[in-house]
Amino acid sequence: MIYVTRREVFSASHRLHNINLTDEENLLLYGKCNNKNGHGHNYILEVVVCGEINPKTGYLIDLKILKTIIREEIIKYVDHKHFNYDVEFMKGINPTTENIAIAFWNRIVNKIPSGKLYSVKLSETENNYVEYRGE
Ligand code: NI
Repeated sequence: MIYVTRREVFSASHRLHNINLTDEENLLLYGKCNNKNGHGHNYILEVVVCGEINPKTGYLIDLKILKTIIREEIIKYVDHKHFNYDVEFMKGINPTTENIAIAFWNRIVNKIPSGKLYSVKLSETENNYVEYRGE
């Protein structure tokens, strides 16, 4: 089994807010990410595909193809957008890094032409990242 990773970066805004909590509780829970009109992050996305090497090409998956899938299914919808207002597939979802990673997984899991999706890693700051493996 071999693992291939494609990294993409994008910038987007979000606001974390739970409507079942008071304004004070939201601020305490989410801090800067609760800012009324949102705020931005420079996100780093890593998509890992695993499987067997194709003996003809020596590749698991052509990274040009993986790059195109990630850009067409994810990046073009989120880069320089506001997760709470602009991104249809995030409608009604609190845009934590966890929830965004799961939504990204669902966008591409059935689109990988060789090998299979192994994980989606998403970092919101340089010191934290979330990883989703589909279960
Ligand atoms: Ni934030």
